[in-house]
Amino acid sequence: MGKNQKVVIVKDGPYLVFGNLILAVEIAVVGEEGYPEKWEKGKAYPEQEKYALCRCGKSKNKPYCDGTHTSIGFDGTETADRTKYLEQAEKLIGPKIDLTDAQNLCSSARFCHLSGSTWTNVENSEDPEAKEIAIKTACNCPAGRLVVWDKKTGKPIELKVKPSISLLEDPQAKVSGPIWLKGGVELESADGTKYEIRNRMTLCRCGKSDNKPFCDGSHIDCKFNDGDESLK
Ligand code: FES
Repeated sequence: MGKNQKVVIVKDGPYLVFGNLILAVEIAVVGEEGYPEKWEKGKAYPEQEKYALCRCGKSKNKPYCDGTHTSIGFDGTETADRTKYLEQAEKLIGPKIDLTDAQNLCSSARFCHLSGSTWTNVENSEDPEAKEIAIKTACNCPAGRLVVWDKKTGKPIELKVKPSISLLEDPQAKVSGPIWLKGGVELESADGTKYEIRNRMTLCRCGKSDNKPFCDGSHIDCKFNDGDESLK
């Protein structure tokens, strides 16, 4: 990872992003089965060495912070469990691949519903097609709630992605989703401690998650909309 690429959480304020991290929209595209099936690139934002992303959901200049968090008295208290992913995840053993699942991290992106569910396809992973679907759907889980493991190597099967930030859009649910932090970007709490580094993480940007700084799917209930054209 590039030097000094990190996201720092400001107490009751925005996410400060450092190190020229790429920022673009990514849209969840629904397939024939009626579930999100792939991610498609949307608008790309100009490169900047550092920037501040709104975390309260109320900026008039989304995705950037415009200071509104102060006037609305935003409470951005970080309440997420700091237990390491593997210690909180449940494990499902399949014939060819295994699955770990930390339900607390769910961002309701629904890629796991495809083709009978990620869990079913892990259980049926003797069948190469089921194995492929399990891997694809788990890797598309932006929150990293789901991780598939290669039984032979004991290693996770992961997206190979550059450190970057995506602003997720969910046209099926007619809402804007969380911030997708990809590629093992360091995330620093407002108290100065570091979160576990992971390849996929979703950060709340509607301000309503009960699992801050992570997304808990609340953007669907509060109908969060950042005005992206994919929702029009
Ligand atoms: S966090 Fe600053 S305006 Fe939302």
